[in-house]
Amino acid sequence: MDRTIDWDGEAVVTVDQTALPQAYRVLRLRDVDSLIDAISRLAIRGAPALGGAGALGVALLARDHDAQVVRLEAERLASARPTAVNLRWGVNRALSRLAEGPDAVLAEALAVLEADIKANHDASGRAAELVREVCERRPLRLLTHCNAGRLATVGWGSALGVVRHLAAAGEVGEVLADETRPLLQGARLTAYELAEMNVPYRICPDSAAATAMAQGLVDCVVVGADRIAANGDVANKIGTYAVALAAARHGVPFIVVAPESTVDEAIADGSAIPIEQRDPAEVTHYAGVPIAPPGAGAFNPAFDVTPADLVTAIVTEDRVWRPLP
Ligand code: MRU
Repeated sequence: MDRTIDWDGEAVVTVDQTALPQAYRVLRLRDVDSLIDAISRLAIRGAPALGGAGALGVALLARDHDAQVVRLEAERLASARPTAVNLRWGVNRALSRLAEGPDAVLAEALAVLEADIKANHDASGRAAELVREVCERRPLRLLTHCNAGRLATVGWGSALGVVRHLAAAGEVGEVLADETRPLLQGARLTAYELAEMNVPYRICPDSAAATAMAQGLVDCVVVGADRIAANGDVANKIGTYAVALAAARHGVPFIVVAPESTVDEAIADGSAIPIEQRDPAEVTHYAGVPIAPPGAGAFNPAFDVTPADLVTAIVTEDRVWRPLP
């Protein structure tokens, strides 16, 4: 598949990211229940990809239901994951054409997909320039957290899009891919994409990221985002905040790359960003096998908020935003 998420004329098609890298399984989702299920179990994941999924979900609904039902079901879809603002944004984009009929809704959803690839390509190109500017050493050693690659977007990727641009110019020495507990998006998906790009990489336990920086192994941290508040606070995968703290301590630039659709101007600062809490079993079990005593609870927020003062720059397709002067 060229795109992580697409429309085949009848259904939403996507790759099941829970199965990667062991198996490449294509899903055809013909109704909104299957789409919500895929989003909830992270078969489709990553903020920009969720924007595309939200828009296509409304297109699915608009084919079969009247406007009232579409709006009700669209709300259920938009609430499937609360942190990434792109999901609701994509749903709203498609809903904006509802009065014009199902073909118009589908056309809008397809436009969302197309625009996402370009936005990520352009934002990451701009961010690659910034990385060149702020890092002296060559070849570059980068660290990323979670997966902000083509799989997390409709195509190209945001943070890994930066790697893609820099690697094409032969400028990447190594990427440290944080494993990203508990669901291992880094060890499974980022590693898969880096291998696909032929970029040298090593998987880094989340707990080793600070040590990697202390040992001078990282020139720059590059991550994506799920929602960016008006003041520049950044919600991203749990563990990002700890990486930002370590980067600040060691003078390593910390760059966030995201499409404008991830910026939520309606939210003044990170304290108002809804943070998804996930099933404790993701922490107390590993690959379905219990690893903790029976009955153990878990604190399992899916995201954290990195305060704006730890962010060197937020780069979108339109701007390089330095939250603090
Ligand atoms: O829970 P996930 O895997 O959907 O979390 C994804 C992230 O946190 C990504 O870093 C973010 O969505 C940016 S993707 C370009």
